[in-house]
Amino acid sequence: MAADLSDAAANPLTHGWLAGLDQAVSRLRTAPSSTPSGRVTRATGLVLEATGLRLPVGAACRIEVNPGHPEYAAAEVVGFNGHTLYLMPQTDISGLPPGARVFAEEVAAGTAEVDAALRGRRLPVGDALLGRVLDGAGHPLDDLGPIDDAPRAALNTPPVNPLSRRPIDSVLDVGVRAINGMLTVGRGQRMGLFAGSGVGKSMLLGMMARYTKAEVIVVGLIGERGREVKDFIENILGPEGLARSVVVAAPADVSPLLRLQGAAYATRLAEYFRDQGRDVLLIMDSLTRYAMAQREIALAIGEPPATKGYPPSVFAKLPMLVERAGNGKVREDGSYGSITAFYTVLTEGDDQQDPIADSARAILDGHVVLSRSLAESGHYPAIDIEASISRAMTALIDNTRFQQVSRFKQALSRYQRNRDLIAVGAYAPGNDPQLDEAIALHPQLAAFLQQDLHQNVSYEQAVAHLDSIFPMANRHVSSATA
Ligand SMILES: Nc1ncnc2c1ncn2[C@@H]1O[C@H](COP(=O)(O)OP(=O)(O)O)[C@@H](O)[C@H]1O
Ligand SMILES: [Mg+2]
Repeated sequence: MAADLSDAAANPLTHGWLAGLDQAVSRLRTAPSSTPSGRVTRATGLVLEATGLRLPVGAACRIEVNPGHPEYAAAEVVGFNGHTLYLMPQTDISGLPPGARVFAEEVAAGTAEVDAALRGRRLPVGDALLGRVLDGAGHPLDDLGPIDDAPRAALNTPPVNPLSRRPIDSVLDVGVRAINGMLTVGRGQRMGLFAGSGVGKSMLLGMMARYTKAEVIVVGLIGERGREVKDFIENILGPEGLARSVVVAAPADVSPLLRLQGAAYATRLAEYFRDQGRDVLLIMDSLTRYAMAQREIALAIGEPPATKGYPPSVFAKLPMLVERAGNGKVREDGSYGSITAFYTVLTEGDDQQDPIADSARAILDGHVVLSRSLAESGHYPAIDIEASISRAMTALIDNTRFQQVSRFKQALSRYQRNRDLIAVGAYAPGNDPQLDEAIALHPQLAAFLQQDLHQNVSYEQAVAHLDSIFPMANRHVSSATA
């Protein structure tokens, strides 16, 4: 390079030009250092292209939307190609002119924490957030005042070493009889809640949030309609549920980046409370919309779609989010915090082959399936016990309860298989003793599985109820017939 310059300097034709350049460079050297900036070179669709800045993927930046006025749009680097950065704006960019300037976030804000900007955002955490509703960037959406005093934590945390994690070995009471009794959930377990729309996911999540024995609830409402967010907070969670919850809402009308960040932020909040040794219930509604937000971004920066329009990065992102939930490290005094998580997964038209549902089933520790036909018949919560499973359950319950649960499932499925025959009177009692027992038990089983929205059924009550349907004295009989 230096050799080139001296060659050029020797050439009288370029000498004048070089001298001018030299002067300009020395003027720049003596001038006060200015904020480095780049320029927007292309804006088509969701993603902007910018040149002139070198920022890593994930870095936060600001785009000067309206030169002359200090008006900036927050954006994030989502990829690059050669010297071109791909930026995804988080807010509206109407009015953005060609060549608009781009700054690295913390630099534009005038603080020296460039490093922090490159490593990722720092968002508010802490007890002061309980009872609050925030957006994906950590700004309050309620009118309960600012939260500027809350401590801030980096959004991204290093993953917990799987070997130093406490295994799932104690029950978390979720206050719902069918789950406590038949699909027992352990502290630190990650469950899917699979259902189509309008089948009662939000209502069930709300019941768990209100009645669970977990100390803190973090709710991530990702990609839902705005109206549903308000309904969930005001009517389903209610004041009692909200008091010990933090709600992060990133509805469908915010940028896909903020939706992803909302899910990451909700998870980060849960991690914060877990790392203090508390039991956290994390509710993420929905994992499908999270995947869709990632799909929007990935397709916009040119990743090819693979499975049903979802690019491969979607399937890499899901486990990265889900793995952050779970039990924490065991502390010195033997205690440990936990994040028990419920992720809703939309299975439209009861399509169990949906790639997101498939992927979620593989990475979660069990799933609760809600059935439209149960909901339509007024059976709430509409949990399809036969299709649902808690994979951690065998580590949580003793043999007696295992027998009870097996007998429950056998009687239920025997009844379901013959339901049409029974309904038309084509089955004559006495032909099949096991079916006779199933028919006799069915009203009790159906009653066990249903629960009023305003009723809290503890784990102990659920177990006692199971004992009353399948008394301990019958134990030897059940093991003989099983
Ligand atoms: N436990 C329940 N008891 C009575 N009705 C319910 C219950 N769960 C759901 N519903 C009915 O189903 C409707 C949709 O429930 P919702 O939880 O909003 O569904 P989703 O979140 O799956 O779309 C509710 O408005 C209500 O009418
Ligand atoms: Mg809902």
